[in-house]
Order: sequence, then C-alpha cells, then structure tokens
Amino acid sequence: MIVIEIEKPGGPEVLKVVDRQRRRPGPGEVLIRVIASGVNRPDVQQRRGLYPPPPGASDIPGLDVAGIVEEVGEGVETLQVGTPICALVNGGGYAELCLAPAVQCMPIPRGLSFIEGASLPEVFFTAWNNLIWLARLAEGETLLIQGGASGVGMAGIQIARHLRRATVFATAGTPQKREICLSVGATAAFDYRGAWDDEIRDQTHGLGVDVVLDGQAGPRTQRQLDLLKPDGRLVFIASHDGETAEVNIRSLVRRRLTITGSTLRPRPAEYKGRLARELVAQVWPLIEDGRIKTYIHQAVDFHQVRDAHAILDDNRQIGKVVLVVDPTMAATVPEPLPALQLT
Ligand SMILES: NC(=O)c1ccc[n+]([C@@H]2O[C@H](COP(=O)([O-])OP(=O)(O)OC[C@H]3O[C@@H](n4cnc5c(N)ncnc54)[C@H](OP(=O)(O)O)[C@@H]3O)[C@@H](O)[C@H]2O)c1
Repeated sequence: MIVIEIEKPGGPEVLKVVDRQRRRPGPGEVLIRVIASGVNRPDVQQRRGLYPPPPGASDIPGLDVAGIVEEVGEGVETLQVGTPICALVNGGGYAELCLAPAVQCMPIPRGLSFIEGASLPEVFFTAWNNLIWLARLAEGETLLIQGGASGVGMAGIQIARHLRRATVFATAGTPQKREICLSVGATAAFDYRGAWDDEIRDQTHGLGVDVVLDGQAGPRTQRQLDLLKPDGRLVFIASHDGETAEVNIRSLVRRRLTITGSTLRPRPAEYKGRLARELVAQVWPLIEDGRIKTYIHQAVDFHQVRDAHAILDDNRQIGKVVLVVDPTMAATVPEPLPALQLT
C-alpha cells in the first residue's frame, strides 16, 4: 500500500510517498480503504519532530480518515466490509489503507462527501473533549476560543453556540478569519495580537468569561486567567508559544480557577469510543440538518501532500485541509447507513 512517511524531522520536503506492507486488523479493529484523510496541526508538529507518536501508534501521520471498511477484525460485529465510515485513528491516516479501532468509527453524516467526512473527527473530538468534558461548558456560559478560525476553533464555536447556547468570543490573525468566526456564531472576534482581553471585558460589562480554550499558552497565560470569572476554567490544547508560564496563585485561589488541558492521541480506544458515541448522538444530527457545518479550505491530491503541509506551515487555511487519496470517490456522497450501532 502507498503511504506518506516522515523521512526525518523537517519541513514539508521530508514527506515521502513510499510503499509499505499491508497490515491485517487485530481484534476489535477494522482496516479502512481510505478515500480522504484530514490534515491537522498535530501532523505538522509530528513532521517537525515535536509530537512523536505515542508507544504502539503508527509512525505514519494522519489522525482522521473517511473511507470504506475493507476488512474486519475478530470480535467486530457492528461494522461490515463495504460500510462507508469516518474515523478517528491513532496515526496512519496518510495511506491507502489504515487500521482503526471499531469504536472510533462513525457514520459519515447524511449528505456529506468523503472529503467532508474526513474533515470531522480530529477537530470535533478535540473540541468536544476539551469544551464539554474537561471545561464542563454549561448552558448559557461565556467562552473565549483563541484561534477561532482553526479547524478545532470553528468546531468549538459551533458546538458552544448550538449545544450550550454559549456566548462565544474568538481571536484570529486576519480580518477575513475574524469574519469567518462571526459567520459560524461568534459574538465578536478580535486580533490576538491586540487588547482582546480589554475588548471582552468591555463587552461583558467587566464580568469576563467562564471558559478559555487556548493552544498557544506561554506569555499570555496570566491575561487569560485574569479574564476568567470566579470558578472559570482555562483549557490548553497545545503550548505553541511556550511550555511554561508564571501565574498569580493568590488570584487563582481567591477566584477558584481551574487550569487544565489534554491531548487526544494517547487516550485509550474506550475513551475515544465514548467521545465518538456522544458526537454521533449530539453533533451529527446538527450537521445533517445544516446547523453545524464543516469548512473545507482545500482538498489536495495525496501526492501533493507537501503543498498541503505548506498551507498549514503558513497558516493560510481557514477551516480544514484534506488529502484526496482516491480522487474517483472523494467527492461522492455515500448512501446513508441504517443507524450504525457502535460497539
Ligand atoms: N490537544 C489535542 O488533543 C489537540 C488535537 C488537535 C489539535 N490541537 C491543537 O488545537 C489547535 C488547533 O488545531 P487545528 O488543527 O484546528 O489548527 P489549524 O487549523 O492548523 O490552525 C491553527 C490556528 O492557530 C492560530 N494561531 C496562531 N497563532 C495564534 C495566537 N498567537 N493566538 C491565537 N491563535 C493563533 C492560527 O490563527 P491565524 O491563522 O488566525 O493566525 C490558526 O487558526 C492547535 O493549537 C493544535 O495544536 C490539539
């Protein structure tokens, strides 16, 4: 099978198309014939040598795919050969064939193509895991999403708006990206290089926000804590601007603030399976009726993977970049499945 390998840490030029031995699914796994594969920020970090795969995971990049079940492992009763699915995978998505735990497979929401299906898992799992499970975002709360025009950001804005009726503030680096944040449901969007905290204080009559979702960390950490209301939660999903920060503990204690964070990739299949079931039950119906949307910045041919990574390196994307592995099928909308029961 053809796969994309990271030859050594570096720029997009280290991505190489190579041939590898096909693998068989183990117990509880399926082998997916990949039609489209999502490109996510963690793939770029892995290519740069900054985010090594956890023990036991594939060294091939790619954390989400859409395709057709090719082979079913022992004990998998819910999926059959030929079923169209999208899946969160533990690596290995940049390939013609990819293994996935069956519990991490989901139906492609009705009316979406394989390209759109591949754009969903990583960003919606991450947004749900961090906003709903970790931050416990409650009905009607106020939220700040830093980097709102990212894949995770746009998923998060929509989940917060439609499933928690939250007031969402966002930041983004360009006027066009701030406009996109507003179009998916943010109340206001600001330049993250400016006085976003003062602007949000103004707009909330000095109250601030209940939750901040941030992937940068570093020097702005205290500004984010200062913006939280009492009992507020600051959730980190990465630390691109610095792994350490000095914070005022007295202020944190006085206002009962929580600082937390997570990475999805090392979590066990059982955990990801529970996330999958919640997404299918609560988010997929809103995608199917058009209230929640996925935004494809560009679908890029598998063999042009370096171009796909260059887009993310320059932060040119709004929403998702997707690799087209099978161009004959990628834009096809698969037949809706009878309710797919996940194990
Ligand atoms: N913890 C997890 O499990 C997990 C999983 C997946 C992703 N992530 C993280 O989630 C974030 C989004 O991932 P993605 O794949 O959706 O990313 P993406 O589409 O590649 O977007 C990255 C975003 O970061 C924004 N950004 C850059 N500098 C910023 C700053 N100083 N302040 C605020 N935003 C800034 C960019 O905004 P502009 O383009 O407007 O500059 C861009 O929208 C990344 O930090 C990624 O590492 C975490």
